[in-house]
Amino acid sequence: MELRAENLRVTAGRREILRGVDFAARAGEVAVIAGPNGSGKTTLLRALTGEIAHGGRVALNGRDCAALRPAELALLRAVLPQAAALSFPFTALEVVRLGLTAGVPGTRAATGRLPAMALARVGLAGFEGRHFHDLSGGEKQRVQLARVLVQIWEPVLDGAPRWLFLDEPVSALDIGHQLQVMAIARDYARAGGGVVAVLHDLNLTAMHADRVTLLDGGRVRSAGTPAEVLTDATLSAAYHCRLRTNTPPPAGGPWILPQAADHCQEEAAE
Ligand SMILES: Nc1ncnc2c1ncn2[C@@H]1O[C@H](COP(=O)(O)OP(=O)(O)OP(=O)(O)O)[C@@H](O)[C@H]1O
Ligand SMILES: [Mg+2]
Repeated sequence: MELRAENLRVTAGRREILRGVDFAARAGEVAVIAGPNGSGKTTLLRALTGEIAHGGRVALNGRDCAALRPAELALLRAVLPQAAALSFPFTALEVVRLGLTAGVPGTRAATGRLPAMALARVGLAGFEGRHFHDLSGGEKQRVQLARVLVQIWEPVLDGAPRWLFLDEPVSALDIGHQLQVMAIARDYARAGGGVVAVLHDLNLTAMHADRVTLLDGGRVRSAGTPAEVLTDATLSAAYHCRLRTNTPPPAGGPWILPQAADHCQEEAAE
């Protein structure tokens, strides 16, 4: 089962934002979309999830997305937007519960426990009654992720994979919580779901992506495994700066190398 998009085109006025983008992702894998600011990552994600009008075709699990009803789409995929504004004075638990309104099959008791379980999964056990507006930026981002998770909690439904679309899910997070969120993505894929995430952090991408699509100027500059895509020449050309991969930092400089989200998993289990 897979996600496959062909020749995606998006225009805004006379500007071409996506110029014939092909994209593929497989259930069981984490697919990362990378690229400079303005290269079209969010636009691609929104085209893949059917949120914006586009040319070309998107097929999810072999079904043409344009033919799926909103309720069917809501059962198949959940979307974490790059920025989510909230105008009501909701608690963290109420925000997460919004994910349930998209339609989660299951017993009332099971869905009743789900929001609290999702908060614990993102390391926010005990935050249920906290006001969303009072939370820190990283806490808000993780509450929004919990909301997305409850929408499609089980990675496989009736034998078909479900899909998480995450637009910069770690942009506000400290290094430990970045690893925790990437572990959530990996677990979702390992359990049979599909994950498509937009990431700016190339080291996180190198560590966690099965497949990378590097956008540049609304086109695919490179697509493949991290080793194929994350090369000196490709990255330097895309980001307009000199980048060296697999090179130690200058002598004496600290080099932060993320490994695993140990303390965060303990925190979630408490
Ligand atoms: N509705 C719109 N009208 C006009 N231009 C738009 C519209 N939406 C996006 N764009 C432009 O299209 C380009 C791609 O935008 P997009 O949000 O997809 O970039 P991105 O790769 O997600 O960037 P970032 O890393 O900053 O989030 C940008 O130059 C943006 O200004
Ligand atoms: Mg974006």
